[in-house]
This record gives sequence, C-alpha cells and structure tokens, in this order.
Amino acid sequence: MNEEQRLSAGRIKPDKADKEEKDYSQYFQTVYTEPSLKKARKRGGEEVAYFDDFEIDERFQGMGKGRKFYIRTYGCQMNEHDTEVMGGIFSALGYEVTDTVEDANVILLNTCAIRENAENKVFGELGHLKSLKRRNPDVLIGVCGCMSQEESVVNKILKTYDQVDMIFGTHNIHRLPNIIHEAYMSKEMVIEVWSKEGDIIENLPKVRHGNIKAWVNIMYGCDKFCTYCIVPYTRGKERSRRPTDIIQEIRQLAAEGYKEVTLLGQNVNAYGKDFEDIAYRFGDLMDDLRKIDLPRIRFTTSHPRDFDDYLIEVLAKGGNLVEHIHLPVQSGSTSMLKIMGRIYSREAFLELVRKIKVAIPNVSLTTDIIVGFPNETEAQFLETMTLYEEVGFETAFTYIYSPRDGTPAAKMADNIPMDVKKERLQRLNDLVNEYSAAAMKQFEGEVVEVLVEGESKRNEEVLSGYTRRSKLVNFKAPKSVIGKLVHVKITEAKTWSLDGEFIGVVEKKEVLI
Ligand code: SAH
Ligand code: SF4
Ligand code: F3S
Repeated sequence: MNEEQRLSAGRIKPDKADKEEKDYSQYFQTVYTEPSLKKARKRGGEEVAYFDDFEIDERFQGMGKGRKFYIRTYGCQMNEHDTEVMGGIFSALGYEVTDTVEDANVILLNTCAIRENAENKVFGELGHLKSLKRRNPDVLIGVCGCMSQEESVVNKILKTYDQVDMIFGTHNIHRLPNIIHEAYMSKEMVIEVWSKEGDIIENLPKVRHGNIKAWVNIMYGCDKFCTYCIVPYTRGKERSRRPTDIIQEIRQLAAEGYKEVTLLGQNVNAYGKDFEDIAYRFGDLMDDLRKIDLPRIRFTTSHPRDFDDYLIEVLAKGGNLVEHIHLPVQSGSTSMLKIMGRIYSREAFLELVRKIKVAIPNVSLTTDIIVGFPNETEAQFLETMTLYEEVGFETAFTYIYSPRDGTPAAKMADNIPMDVKKERLQRLNDLVNEYSAAAMKQFEGEVVEVLVEGESKRNEEVLSGYTRRSKLVNFKAPKSVIGKLVHVKITEAKTWSLDGEFIGVVEKKEVLI
C-alpha cells in the first residue's frame, strides 16, 4: 500500500439514515478493507519504516484555540503512553486539557480489548455520553485504542452508538489532526483504522503525566500469538525503535530531572529481533541504559521465552536497573501452557527463575495468571498453585479467561462452569494475598529507598512512593521531598503496602533495597 492509499484507506462515511438495514461488515471486507482481524494476523516481511517528519499541517494550526480536550484511558501502560502522545498532538493544535467531560469540546475514549469486561466498561461510558451529546451536539466524541481495531466493535458502534463522531486505531494516532478536522467538517462518522502497520514515527509530541516517572516505548506490537490474546491483532507486528532514539530520549528525560523510566513493550525481550543491520538485543540496550545518570529503570512486560542469559547477567549489575521483574507465567501446567501457545514448559520457567534468583538474590518476581482457560482441570489448576509457591511470587495480576473473538482459543469448546472458574480465582487470590503479606513483612525494621510521588490517595498528610522492588510505602514527611529519593524506615507491613518513618533525602548514590 502506498502512502496515499494508506491515508485514504479505511475511512467510511456511512449514511446514518439507512444504517439499520446495512451490513457494515461488507465495507470492511470489500470497499474498505480495514479494520480486519484477519489482515492483522498476517505477518509480512516488510521492512519497518522510520519517520521523524511529523509536523502539524498549516491547515490545522490553531484548530484547538479556545477549545478543550478530554481523554479517558483504559488498559495497559502502552495506552497510557499513547494518551500522552495524543495529549501532545492536541496541545500542538492549541487545545487545552480538561478533566471534566462537560467542559470538553473533544472527548476521546482510548480503549482496551484484552477482556470482555474491559470492553463493557467502554460501551457503558458511551451510553453515558449519549445524553451529553444530546445536550451539546457540537462536542466531538471519538473512540480509539485497541477496541477500534476490531471490526465487531466498529460494527456495534455504527449500529448502536451514533453519538460517536470518529473511530481511529492504534496505528494512526499521528493522523489525529486530520481525523478531527474531518470530523468537524463532516456530520457523519469518520472511521480510519489501519490493520497493517509497519512504521515507527519518532518525533511525535508528548505531554507526559507528571515529571517524576516517565514511560518510554522501546518496541511496538507482538508476534507471540498466545492463543487467548487479542494484542497481536490490535497492536500489529513486533517492531523495535532504534537504540540511538531510545537512548537519546532517556538521556533527555534524565536531563529534565525525571527519576524513573519504565521501558514499554508487549514483549520487551524480543527487542531488536527485527533489526537486520545490527546485532543488538534487549540485554545490549539495558547495558547501555545502565550508564545513563538516571536513578531507576524498569521494564514491562517480559515474556519468559526470550529471557536470555546475557540479559540476566546485565540485570545483575544493578545500579539503576531495579530488582523487580514482572514475568507473566499464565499457568503452572505444561499441558495448559502448550494449549495457550506460550512456548515454554513449567520446568523451563522454573529453570529461568532459578537462574534469575542466583544472579539477583534479592529480586522481586511478580506475574500474570489466567484461570479457567477452556477445559482447565482441577489438577492443572493445582499445578498453577504449586508453581506460585515454588517461585514465591510477591504478587500477581490474576484473571478469569475471557474469550476474544478472532483468537484460536475463542473457538475451543469449554465445559468448565463459571462458578468453578470463580472459585479457582478466589483460591488463587487467597494465595496471592498470603504471599504479598509475607513479602511485605520482610521489610519490617528495614530502611528502604523510596521515590516520593506525592500525597497518599487516602490521606493528604501522608506521602507515598515506591521502592526499587515496587512496594508502596506511606510515611509522613515535608511536601518538599516530593519527586526525590528518600530513605524510610519501615515500621509496619500491611498486605499491599508498607508504613514507615521518614529518615532523610538520599544524598549520594547509595543503593538500598
Ligand atoms: N504482553 C504481556 C501481556 C499483556 S496482556 C505478556 O505476555 O506478558 C496482560 C495480561 O492479560 C496477560 O499477561 C494475561 O494474563 C491477561 N490476558 C490476556 N488475554 C486474556 C484473555 N483473553 N482473558 C483473560 N486474561 C487475558
Ligand atoms: Fe498477548 Fe502473548 Fe503477546 Fe503477551 S506475549 S501480548 S499474552 S500474545
Ligand atoms: Fe488492552 Fe491494548 Fe493494552 S488490548 S492491555 S490496551 S495493548
């Protein structure tokens, strides 16, 4: 597809009057081929094109003068960061941000498709926005993010939610000015979703949330195709940013005074696999980032499969590379992992954990687990429970499997009743709580390093922040320490957080737990 086709593809302007009768799927399959999960599944050998020529077209300059935007974000950090980029584009157009929908001239829902309940929240919110649109027909309402990449969602919006003015996907957020312009000009729904991607655009503006911690994309997409997961379809193929661009961005953040960076990718360990001209992988990147004068670097998420020995060796050097690894396991049963398409066994996972613990003895490991995958037996579930104990995860995100249309698992027959799935989740969560409380307990009486983020959500007298090992700490101290690294002596461990006494600001580069 050439650039011109790309720019015009996927935009349809249905005639709202006869929308009840029309089968819009035809548009996606014939005239407008996108969005299409089927197309999104294909992995071609196309080269990744890098661009750094983003600029606001002079037609759109000042478009947002006197106008405000509101973005509600659902889902993972990737979406949070996309919201920061869209915020940057809005600002460049002259819009101001607002945190109340009533004040907004443009409202965007940046959506997540990972589970059914994530999608239901968005449809619920769209329902609420209907009356707002009735009261204020000039407000523009847009749906973007992962749900927009699904044709079933786009069809549903076309049929039921005519308060929506625009839908665009995850691969074309840089086209926001054109899409908004189109939505202002036309009184019909504007849809622009690209199913095939390939480009990386480097110089998009960003308005970051806060000035203490920052997210930095190191790669986009996912090629793992775990059988239950929609992400490879909504985010496209794996493609890595060039090391120089990442290093430059992080150096800049360090110079601006940021204290912590989280590297983002659906599977950061696959970083660099797509480079044809250089042999440079995630371990190499971490080794280079280690040398930057910035107190903390984290990453999320790592797939156990590509976690190589060199990476472990580099992480063991510590310094600004923190002792926390989020390592989703999904299940403790080799047979179940196979059906999930995870490409590792229980034994291989345990061996990886053993190696990590030898190299980084005080490492905190956390994970993601899915229970109630089609036909999961009690014995398979118990293997997940025993694996959890064997590893000694410090906490976990746990989910009941949710079928996603278009994925192989969604076609699997399932005869496990929902109440059995719920009961398993409960048993697993009890174990997770027990291990979390035990992990917290070991800090009682210890002095930890905390990056102070601000006032605690519950009590503005109290400040809070996280340790290197991602433990939430609450303590009393002057507000002037917000944004600084401080030492806190832990006085009481709770299940999900630690209470402590402020000792002082960290003066020299002294690394504590
Ligand atoms: N790329 C990350 C995961 C991103 S999605 C990784 O592989 O590590 C975050 C988590 O959502 C997954 O780890 C998985 O536990 C969960 N998840 C994904 N698809 C799901 C589904 N269909 N039903 C329930 N949970 C799901
Ligand atoms: Fe989904 Fe698997 Fe890719 Fe993670 S690695 S995003 S679970 S397909
Ligand atoms: Fe959700 Fe998309 Fe992230 S499906 S979890 S927002 S990549």
